[in-house]
Amino acid sequence: MPWLEETGVEVAVLRLDLIDPLISGNKWFKLQHHLHAAEAACAAGVISLGGAHSNHLHALAAAGKRFGFATVGLLRGEPQDTPTVRDLHAWGMQLHWLGYGGYRQRHQADFWQPWLARYPNFYPVPEGGGGLPGARGCMALREMAEAQLASIGWDDFDAWWLAVGTGTTLAGLVLAEAGRRLVYGAAAVPAGHGVEDNLRAIFELAGENDQGYRLLEASRGGFAKVDTALTTFVEQVEVGSEVPLEAIYTGKALMALRLYVVAGNVARGTRLLFVHTGGLQGRRATHLNIAHPGGTPGLPLESDHFHE
Ligand SMILES: Cc1ncc(COP(=O)(O)O)c(C=O)c1O
Repeated sequence: MPWLEETGVEVAVLRLDLIDPLISGNKWFKLQHHLHAAEAACAAGVISLGGAHSNHLHALAAAGKRFGFATVGLLRGEPQDTPTVRDLHAWGMQLHWLGYGGYRQRHQADFWQPWLARYPNFYPVPEGGGGLPGARGCMALREMAEAQLASIGWDDFDAWWLAVGTGTTLAGLVLAEAGRRLVYGAAAVPAGHGVEDNLRAIFELAGENDQGYRLLEASRGGFAKVDTALTTFVEQVEVGSEVPLEAIYTGKALMALRLYVVAGNVARGTRLLFVHTGGLQGRRATHLNIAHPGGTPGLPLESDHFHE
């Protein structure tokens, strides 16, 4: 990328989008401990929540189908037909549409009660596979990245850069680094969406203080809001580097990095590790549907439909 060559900053990409065709990106790591806990509890299945394009529900349904456990998805809003929802159906996930008001109840203490009465002994996984178990799963990313450094001729790197939704993945990296390398989180959600609260809760439960990260605003006017500069950037990255991004998380995160680097905030010679957190299945419903030409071009993106 010319903006990296000009500023003398090096970026390596940890391609979590490549680890599995379906349980892709950070989802593999965020789900791992939740699924182990469900298994240890001899749960009858796993129940979770998300939007009509949710990467999280998509990965959970794929895991249920592959490993043979029942899944239930509670969806935001009114019934919609999206490529993601079609996959959820096809993989046997039982779906319930909660409306928007109903979905907003998800943080209430008694939210799960009626669902667990309806699906006895199901294991509830919080939105996006979050919480401390989700973060613990992401701690493995540090070793995974370090083990591959030699293959690109690096002996070390200076800091991490990644997209933030709930903050779970970032929290895992901060816990794994324990203050060694700084973790930059480019927030795909605007301020006031609870990222700081989520992080505080995870660090408190883990008994760690929350040193070692910086949160940057990267939502570009709102969650899932997409502008032409962003889509053009994502297309340029794909053409220039063959790294496919989606606009909502990874595209905004890399664009925020470009702005940060070009503004002179990063010293020449710095080595950054950008985590590709996956989410490419979500592109099928957008005009960045480069890899899936059969999808719906130009579908308007509404924040409520995407956030998980
Ligand atoms: C593709 C993608 N990247 C990044 C994130 C953000 O991860 P986290 O919620 O752990 O901050 C998500 C989901 O929330 C996602 O689907």
